[in-house]
Amino acid sequence: MELVDKKEFSMTKKNFEFIQSLAYEETGIVLPERKKHMVYSRLSRRLRHLGLDNFNQYCDHIQSEPGELMNFVNALTTNLTAFFREEHHFDYLDKEITPLWRRRRNKRLRIWSSACSTGEEPYSIAMTLAEHFSGSEWDLKILATDLDTNVLSKAAKGCYAEDSITGLADRYRKKYIKITPNGIQIKQSIQNKIHFKQLNLLQKWPMTGPFDVIFCRNVLIYFDNETKAKIIAKFRKLLAPDGLLFIGHSETLTNLSDEFELIGQTIYQPLRGGHAKVIGERKKAVIG
Ligand SMILES: C[S@@+](CC[C@H](N)C(=O)[O-])C[C@H]1O[C@@H](n2cnc3c(N)ncnc32)[C@H](O)[C@@H]1O
Repeated sequence: MELVDKKEFSMTKKNFEFIQSLAYEETGIVLPERKKHMVYSRLSRRLRHLGLDNFNQYCDHIQSEPGELMNFVNALTTNLTAFFREEHHFDYLDKEITPLWRRRRNKRLRIWSSACSTGEEPYSIAMTLAEHFSGSEWDLKILATDLDTNVLSKAAKGCYAEDSITGLADRYRKKYIKITPNGIQIKQSIQNKIHFKQLNLLQKWPMTGPFDVIFCRNVLIYFDNETKAKIIAKFRKLLAPDGLLFIGHSETLTNLSDEFELIGQTIYQPLRGGHAKVIGERKKAVIG
């Protein structure tokens, strides 16, 4: 029996394999052996909370108490995020895309932040777009979803620590942020543009689109290629023909989809006019 040594709770090889396969089935998140200590420390909090003695008991508890599954999932997700993280995407929206949208006859804009974590990403999108599309003729809606119910409830409140906005541009800080005794509060005018909802990227999506932009940043890295490819194909179906897909700095669609072209740093657009037969040929045509 292999145990995580000298720890508060014993975790056998079988326990870890059970956790790996449950996490994969429920969330798509792959937990390789090297993440065992992270898994141990995140789930230990649940064992303490429940007054359990070891991971055998916890694995039994998950199977007998369906309500524990959500706590299990919430404990295992990695939620790191920040306002205007990977700022080039917001610059691109601000400088390259909004001038095109402003010339549209159709005043409907739909954005989806598909792994929004605690909300900094959709609030950054809303602040960027509010500068251009706050008039009543514009129908701007941002859908912000995540699997983790804890992060979503934090996101919906729009309250953050004061140091979370250290790098925020003055123009946004002055217009859209209120300083409170407990930190900062996103103003209602920005909150009103966002609908927070729980959504598992692995399960059925109720939305019909089309979206003008989908943000799917820093979540594909947790999935295997099969899951990534399925999700990307579904994004393609929901994007407008001139829509954009933004992914995270360490992510790529190379070898996962031949339905997109790379048009900027981790910025993709659906390919027009059919599919190239070989992804390699496409890369040559698109990138260089
Ligand atoms: C590292 S955060 C990224 C937050 C934000 N997109 C950013 O780049 O700053 C990853 C988020 O993906 C969410 N996530 C993980 N698996 C998911 C799934 N199957 N469906 C939806 N969200 C998922 C996690 O709960 C977490 O909040």
